[in-house]
Amino acid sequence: MQTLNVALGQRSYPIHIGSGLLTQVDLLLPHLAQPRVAVVTNSTIAPLYLSNLVNALHDAGVAVQEIILPDGEIYKNWETLNLIFDALLAAHCERKTTLIALGGGVIGDLTGFAAACYLRGVPFIQIPTTLLAQVDSSVGGKTGINHPLGKNMIGAFYQPQAVIADLHTLRTLPARELSAGLAEVIKYGLIADIEFLEWLENNMAALRALDMTCLSYAVERACAIKADIVAQDERESGLRALLNLGHTFGHAIESGMGYGNWLHGEAVAAGTMLAADLSRRLGWLTEDDVARIRALYCAAGLPDAAPDLGVETYLRWMGLDKKVEDGRIRFVLLRAVGDGVVSGDVAQHLLLETLHSCNTSRIKPALS
Ligand code: NAD
Ligand code: GLY
Repeated sequence: MQTLNVALGQRSYPIHIGSGLLTQVDLLLPHLAQPRVAVVTNSTIAPLYLSNLVNALHDAGVAVQEIILPDGEIYKNWETLNLIFDALLAAHCERKTTLIALGGGVIGDLTGFAAACYLRGVPFIQIPTTLLAQVDSSVGGKTGINHPLGKNMIGAFYQPQAVIADLHTLRTLPARELSAGLAEVIKYGLIADIEFLEWLENNMAALRALDMTCLSYAVERACAIKADIVAQDERESGLRALLNLGHTFGHAIESGMGYGNWLHGEAVAAGTMLAADLSRRLGWLTEDDVARIRALYCAAGLPDAAPDLGVETYLRWMGLDKKVEDGRIRFVLLRAVGDGVVSGDVAQHLLLETLHSCNTSRIKPALS
């Protein structure tokens, strides 16, 4: 097992990464303020992993309230959030009751937001079961839900007590979901670590074949980069915005295509191709750089082009981005491969050229 630390003073917490950690409740127990938890999960994950966790907690003398939500990005909303509150109130869960998020990014974001709000804040622990959640959403304290007018628009910064990433849970993850998680892994290489990017280029097949040694290194490296950025800029006043590479375009794709039709990671990959195209038009990337990024997404089983939503649709959704400042869209771009930058100073004609370049014919049939 590897343990990293997210260094946030009194709100610091460990990220444990390893195989078979789900039932190692000794990792959880030191973080519980009372021997009582509420485990929030969904109807897909519950039959796979809930009883293992619950039995291990019972054996350690911990009382468990189970909250099983419907599965899907379309349920990341107020109605589902209220189901969590209903269950917590009905069971008289207290201020010291810890919420445990057992699942992917949807469950983690919903549970974290519920923990931030319930009784004005109760502790929570992340047990991420998708690659995307293990390398990104479980770390850093961004919690929230979607609004019909925009993705992740309602939420709170609220840090967990601990993150416990059991790599064995990835063995049941559908291949498409694994690829979606790889999009966020690739993001770290693109914005901050060219050597890691090269390592990913050399080990993509092993990652997709669930080689545990490779997965462990990828999750650890991704979490280390994220923990470092979050420690410097917890509430995204600057540096942390780099973690949104591909997300300004990607959120427009996710929202514009209808939540759940494109997976978050797929939309991030396609959005990053647009960010790369824009970076090339600014003279920062070469054609070869863009081709290199495209090849890596193809190797990861991800889309390497963005859907043609129409320029107006893109601009409308992008205008709702959380990074908009004084009405100007701020983009995360690449000054070079391995070197991300936030820029609010992009000439409109270049942006329009990028949006006009969307080429639906390049999109894999399964996603179009
Ligand atoms: P998800 O939570 O929808 O999980 C993907 C699918 O895999 C679901 O059907 C889920 O039930 C299933 N699943 C989960 N674990 C499984 C397992 N071990 N075996 C089999 N099936 C399993 O999607 P995701 O990609 O994990 O997360 C995407 C969400 O995360 C989006 O809502 C996105 O906005 C959010 N996100 C948040 C942050 C953040 O910083 N908070 C960062 C990135 C993404
Ligand atoms: N996933 C972006 C962030 O955590 O800031």
